[in-house]
Amino acid sequence: MMFKAVLFDLDGVITDTAEYHYLAWRELAQSIGIHIDREFNEQLKGVSRLDSLKRILEYGNKAESFSSEQVEELATKKNQEYLKMIERVTPQDVFPGVLALLQELKAAGIKVGLASASINAPKLLEKMELSAYFDTIASAAQVKSKPDPGIFLLAAQNLNVDPHYCIAIEDAQAGIQAIKASGALPIGVGKSEDLGVDIALVSSTSQLSLAYLQEQWQKQRD
Ligand code: BG6
Ligand code: MG
Repeated sequence: MMFKAVLFDLDGVITDTAEYHYLAWRELAQSIGIHIDREFNEQLKGVSRLDSLKRILEYGNKAESFSSEQVEELATKKNQEYLKMIERVTPQDVFPGVLALLQELKAAGIKVGLASASINAPKLLEKMELSAYFDTIASAAQVKSKPDPGIFLLAAQNLNVDPHYCIAIEDAQAGIQAIKASGALPIGVGKSEDLGVDIALVSSTSQLSLAYLQEQWQKQRD
């Protein structure tokens, strides 16, 4: 039995916005005297806006330093900075191989869902002119943050596909955990040091294709 749907993360899988999230968080953290680096940032990838901020405050031993209103304000400030950064995103910014894969999936009648933790995801798909390729965009506002499987389960449910018949593509530790918990087959974009040695990994999205997904499915599921 072949897979019936592919669920995509967005930031760091479809385009380079994972970098923009990092830069915006680093600036926000700096403004309150907390220094974060790329290694720490691996723990933020895939994690919702508010949960990311909580992790940063804990990391800087400042979890108790701000009221919940102030925490909301800080999260808003980060998002404003991030919104400025994504203003210029265009179809040119789609990672290599992604559009070709979406086209192959459409031609093969395989459903496609977005399972991003980002509230800004629908806007980004519009900017990249990719919205038409997605049969569902699961709403991050309705579920718990990754590593909870909620967003993957919701996307599969919206597509009317059992999660066990889904492949899901992620660049984040929290995202891979969420996929595993959902029952879908994970494919990681990144390094084994970050994402683990027990899943299929590509170092670049240019390695993703329908043939590659079919090969992984046959290896691990059939
Ligand atoms: C995830 C990113 O996709 O979305 C995280 O990997 C980000 O870095 C999260 O914090 C929430 O995004 P937003 O756009 O709702 O702040
Ligand atoms: Mg991501």
